[in-house]
Formats: sequence, C-alpha cells, structure tokens
Amino acid sequence: MNTLDKFHNWRRKLRWDKQYAKGRWDSMKTSKELSRYSTIIGYLTILGKENPSILDLGSGEGVLNEKLPAHYMYNYFLGIDFSKVSIEKAKAKEFPNAEFQCKDIHTFTPERKFDVIIFNEVFYYVHEKERVKVLEKMIDHLEDDGIIISSIYREAPHLWELFNQRLEKINFVTVRTEEELRYWQIGVYCKKGSENNDEPAS
Ligand SMILES: C[S@@+](CC[C@H](N)C(=O)[O-])C[C@H]1O[C@@H](n2cnc3c(N)ncnc32)[C@H](O)[C@@H]1O
Repeated sequence: MNTLDKFHNWRRKLRWDKQYAKGRWDSMKTSKELSRYSTIIGYLTILGKENPSILDLGSGEGVLNEKLPAHYMYNYFLGIDFSKVSIEKAKAKEFPNAEFQCKDIHTFTPERKFDVIIFNEVFYYVHEKERVKVLEKMIDHLEDDGIIISSIYREAPHLWELFNQRLEKINFVTVRTEEELRYWQIGVYCKKGSENNDEPAS
C-alpha cells in the first residue's frame, strides 16, 4: 500500500472504532445473520479437526465465538481485528482458551500455524494490492491438514478466484435469507493435494 492507501486504511479503522462504540454492528448478533454463522460453524465442526486451533481474521467483537455451541471445544482461538474497540469488547467476554489482538490484517503475521483459518466477512476489506500477499501468508500458516473458511457478502467472483487458484475447494454454498439481497457465499478450502478433501474427483 502506498502512503495514501495507508491513510485511507487508518481512516477506515477509526470509522470501525466509532461504529463499534455506537453499537452499529450489534445487528451481527441478531437472527438476520444467523444462517451465515450457522453455516460457518457447521463447516467448522464437520470438516475441521477435533479440538482445533482457530484463527479468526477480522473477528470484530467475537460474535462467531459467541455462537459456537457450548459443547464445542477448541484448544486455542485467536481473533484479530484492527478495531481496538471491537477487540476490547471481545476480550471482555473472557472466552476460555481464546485471545484477541488488535492487528491489521495487512501487516499481521501469525506466530504459529492453525488448523482452521477463517475470513468471515473481511476479505473484501483487504486492499486489492495486498489480497494475494495476505491470502498466501495465511496459507503458509495453515497446517497441512487444515481448512480455510471464507464468507463473502453477495457475489465476488474476483475474490473467490484468488481462493480457487491457490487452494482446493472442499465445499461452497450460497446462504440465502428471506431478504432477497441479504445473502453470502461461503467456501471451505484445504491445501492442494491435502487428504482433507476426500471428495472423489469429478
Ligand atoms: C463485517 S465485520 C465482520 C466481523 C466478524 N468477522 C463477524 O462476522 O462477526 C468486518 C470486520 O473486519 C474488520 N476489519 C476491516 N478491515 C480490517 C483490517 N485491515 N485488519 C483487520 N480487521 C479489519 C472490521 O474492524 C470488522 O470488525
């Protein structure tokens, strides 16, 4: 990103902070978004390994974590978000085995590998010049038998192409709601050649 891009990114961060402070994103917790979280959690529990380590990129105030079933266990959960306000809210929830850190996805480098990496409504916020770099960095920090789950609002073929080129698709779904224009596409991927994808080749 050049200096101007960095400036815009910084302004966006301030905007997110203000919105989180005002409760603008409380709608994420309502039933309107439930089918999206349910699908992600379904993939996580069915296709992810037991007791995984999870990296939630752009975790916000930890809504995904909040929606996980009480019996679901992970050995470590790291949520990162560049909004300090959202991270403070997530930390206050004191999820067990979970950490939340204020980091910008553009510059964040994980210190370990993860079994599950989640881009939940965040990939389109990554600057277009940085998307490949960010995705490839995350793939480098995915365990060989790990999965990446991504949720993207409405249609974004140019973004899915980046996932499809670098990873093997395990499953892909369009999650619709009663509102015609409120829908998401959610994909689950593994590393190319990973035994995680046991679907017969078509
Ligand atoms: C639509 S919200 C989704 C929040 C959460 N993943 C969920 O679905 O509940 C997008 C989130 O991405 C975060 N975000 C946007 N740009 C980011 C960046 N450059 N680095 C880290 N987080 C970012 C925002 O602060 C916000 O919390």
